[in-house]
Amino acid sequence: MSGIGENGADFLVVANRLPVDLERLPDGTERWKHSPGGLVSALEPFLRSHSGAWVGWPGVADAEVEAFEEDGLQLHPVSLSSAEVRDYYEGFSNGTLWPLYHDVVAPPAFHRRWWNAYVRVNQRFADVTAKVAAQGATVWVQDYQLQLVPAMLRELRPDLRIGFFLHIPFPPVELFMQLPWRTEIIRGLLGADLVGFHRPGGAQNFLWLARRLVGLEPSRGAVGVRTRPGVVQVGDRTVRVGAFPISIDSAGLDALARSKEVQAHARQIREDLGRPKKILLGVDRLDYTKGIDVRLRALHELLEDGRVDPRDVTMIQLATPSRERVEHYKQMRSEIEQAVGRINGEFSTVGHTVVHYLHQSVDRRELTAFMTAADVMVVTPVRDGMNLVCKEYVACRYDLGGALVLSEFAGAAAELTSAFLVNPHDLDGVKNALEAALTLDPAEGRRRMRALRRQVLTHDVDRWARSFLDALGTQSAI
Ligand code: ADP
Ligand code: F6P
Repeated sequence: MSGIGENGADFLVVANRLPVDLERLPDGTERWKHSPGGLVSALEPFLRSHSGAWVGWPGVADAEVEAFEEDGLQLHPVSLSSAEVRDYYEGFSNGTLWPLYHDVVAPPAFHRRWWNAYVRVNQRFADVTAKVAAQGATVWVQDYQLQLVPAMLRELRPDLRIGFFLHIPFPPVELFMQLPWRTEIIRGLLGADLVGFHRPGGAQNFLWLARRLVGLEPSRGAVGVRTRPGVVQVGDRTVRVGAFPISIDSAGLDALARSKEVQAHARQIREDLGRPKKILLGVDRLDYTKGIDVRLRALHELLEDGRVDPRDVTMIQLATPSRERVEHYKQMRSEIEQAVGRINGEFSTVGHTVVHYLHQSVDRRELTAFMTAADVMVVTPVRDGMNLVCKEYVACRYDLGGALVLSEFAGAAAELTSAFLVNPHDLDGVKNALEAALTLDPAEGRRRMRALRRQVLTHDVDRWARSFLDALGTQSAI
């Protein structure tokens, strides 16, 4: 099956970032590297196995790059100036929408200049897509950075089938209503034939807003998971609104974790750490929604209380650098580095470091080895649309070892009910869960992990994409 016809692509993903980022090295040379984040982790394996085109930003300002093919995937770069990176990406996307959609855990800022840049850049994405899509193609627009693209694209190309999926939470209506450009966003999304969210609650909120802000008459029944989408009539078009929880390439990760190379690497990690009794692991983009501070505080108090012996544990925190010029990210980075320094200052000894903090990305194999080595995976976001890291951990644990501590405020908690679920705002609860996971009876651990794996292995990213594209009515396009 090919997604690229002679007259353009039959199947296109449109996302803020391409699956590869252009990196400019100090010596002036350039190279492409894997882009950060869950969207690329989830969509890239799916798209590579089906062939198609991807429209996105190359990740640096002022990059004038021609369309190119990479490993069977047609990549169409959209260029952003440095002012647009500041106003559209760092500003409206990550200074307004990101905190607003994550329960205002940081205060969102509302600036007309940022909004204007958001409109302009969304229009550019729509223009590029309109040029490279074949007649009647399926276009799948992704995430909060591009919420105006569905309506803009429909205006340019009414022949296209357009889907939209939001990778982050869709907020409660009271919070969404703060947005000065709330009606424009809802109208933008209504340009799609299908609007998808991780959870039914997001779909329900969107339907309410379509009534309140646009005066439409959406269906009133409860939206199900992958079933019973809401329906809203927009002129002569029917827009469907559904819930499609995203996932990972579970079988691929399971196979990688079983490989001799990853097994040996995992043993080496434990060896290099001085064979601690228990290894705790955190893996996140360095983002204030991820609750990295929460888990460090909980560990610190457990050590202070004497409930955990510092000689017995090592925590590894891998933190991918993210949005480093946005103020809240700068602040949080220094708070986390201080918290790590405090724990190590008080509890480490020469030869045994309690917290290893790596402000870097590691490659897939290494990440799998870390997950294979970890006795307790700690995932404590204060709000997360889904969170793929917890699913990746489960996919790696074919040995039924390990324990997962997971925030109730991650979308994944609705599926991974056999994890140690915690409220990240309740520090005592997080401490209790960490202690329970560290002292878990192996038989009970295997029972929990078996149940988690049943869920993750049967609900992979392929199923997510297929259920979305089925609901869009375009499964045959890919
Ligand atoms: P988000 O999309 O908000 O970044 P997710 O948990 O959904 O959060 O996805 C994050 C993805 O990035 C996962 O695939 C995870 O394995 C990967 N990732 C996060 N931190 C690192 C890291 N330090 N090194 C390598 N991969 C990472
Ligand atoms: O899903 C959240 C998200 O913004 C994705 O769009 C993206 O994959 C990831 O986080 C990384 O963020 P950024 O592209 O800003 O580095």
